[in-house]
Amino acid sequence: SDAVIHDVLSGRYAVGDTVTVKGWVRTKRDSKAGISFVAVHDGSCFDAVQAVVPADLPNYESEIKRLTTACSVVVTGTIARSEGQGQQFEIQASSVAVIGWVENPDTYPMAPKRHSMEYLREFAHLRPRTNIHGAVTRVRNCLAQAVHRFFHQRGFYWISTPIITGSDTEGAGEMFRVSTLDLENLPRTEAGKVDYSKDFFDRETFLTVSGQLNVETYCCALSKVYTFGPTFRAENSNTSRHLAEFWMIEPEVAFAELADVAQLAEDMLKYVFKAVLEERADDMAFFAERVDKDAISRLQQMVDSSFVRMDYTDAIEILQNCGKTFNYPVEWGIDLQSEHERYLAEEHVGAPIILQNYPKDIKAFYMRLNEDGKTVAAMDILAPGIGEIIGGSQREERLDKLDERLEAMGLNKDDYGWYRDLRRYGTVPHSGFGLGFERLVSYVTGMGNVRDVIPFPRTPGNADF
Ligand code: 4AD
Ligand code: MG
Repeated sequence: SDAVIHDVLSGRYAVGDTVTVKGWVRTKRDSKAGISFVAVHDGSCFDAVQAVVPADLPNYESEIKRLTTACSVVVTGTIARSEGQGQQFEIQASSVAVIGWVENPDTYPMAPKRHSMEYLREFAHLRPRTNIHGAVTRVRNCLAQAVHRFFHQRGFYWISTPIITGSDTEGAGEMFRVSTLDLENLPRTEAGKVDYSKDFFDRETFLTVSGQLNVETYCCALSKVYTFGPTFRAENSNTSRHLAEFWMIEPEVAFAELADVAQLAEDMLKYVFKAVLEERADDMAFFAERVDKDAISRLQQMVDSSFVRMDYTDAIEILQNCGKTFNYPVEWGIDLQSEHERYLAEEHVGAPIILQNYPKDIKAFYMRLNEDGKTVAAMDILAPGIGEIIGGSQREERLDKLDERLEAMGLNKDDYGWYRDLRRYGTVPHSGFGLGFERLVSYVTGMGNVRDVIPFPRTPGNADF
């Protein structure tokens, strides 16, 4: 019967059972004794299965001996105990059909050796075949499933928020425009501005930077909701943590305060770390061996510890008194830079920190003003090695306070009519956060660059494939 390699290697079949596996050659070795060992992988697990191919097969000389990495094959044979080390089972092949050859093995770009990450990015269509990208793909999938399962178990509804939007949630002006207007022949108003009333949606539209404002509407009716979808930022940051297109998970909870969603975030992270440790032990062992020796111990430690909570104001004091000189000077009111975040998470605490209550002037308009009138109920979760992986807040549920914030930030009240309605009709305290999915995958695997944990990275100057 047709078998996936994971089932063969995990002992789902008995010795002597006949199975057929379909996949690609990872490596091949011919022995002097006139047999060949062909390692075949099919993506179902990290390991390849070894097919032991005897010389008396009719296509042994003509085909088997010519097999190279990446040829596609269908192997039928019986399950046997493996003499070699590493695996318990192998397949004694009774037939090997070659489905696809590799044109010129000497110039095949994914030859089985270590390639740099930069090199692999140039082959986004072929890199899924490498061990490392196979492992990333399975871990990414495991994390996504675990996120959905976590929220489902806690009674959250998954809400699909729009990708095309008229509002700039974060107010940072980093939006990609969506338009069907003819760039060479733009319609103009009398004042000479581009006339977006002639555009597809009769208005200016963009790719969303966050589903938060939309998901708040569902939160204020269904209590516990979340989004999990693509978001877009046209920020020109060429760093290992920024993508122009990334996936974000944004839960939103009614009748919840900041501390409640800080706890939710901690529970969620621990849940998904545990899931990866249990379900993808094979891939995590590879990351620990080849990418980051702490990959497994770090997650285990997170699962077992309790995250440190710290106020922004205290963090500033720590940074000022730590005796270290930073490139960007530290004073109350600054937007913390990556060097500051890393010092706090890596050197001061050595574990993830939930940093809370930031100055209002560096945060978005929708965050709830604290009693002190200077700070807002915001939180960021900073992880060692990567910095911010989560940003969230309690939302301003008081209409008068929200209006004051909109005005202070030079935003037009009329543009937020629907958002203000939530505060006019049965307002409730509510809170939520956003988890950058690629930053999470990068943290879990130890892969140092978010470009290597999303199948087709979009960064400045790069949207091929
Ligand atoms: O801190 P941010 O901008 O927060 C929001 O968008 C809120 N609306 C979330 C909410 O409260 N519902 O982004 C949230 C997270 C960041 O912590 C980071 O992990 C990730 O999204 N992120 C990026 N990931 C990759 N590339 C980028 N350019 C990112 N920008 C933000
Ligand atoms: Mg943020």
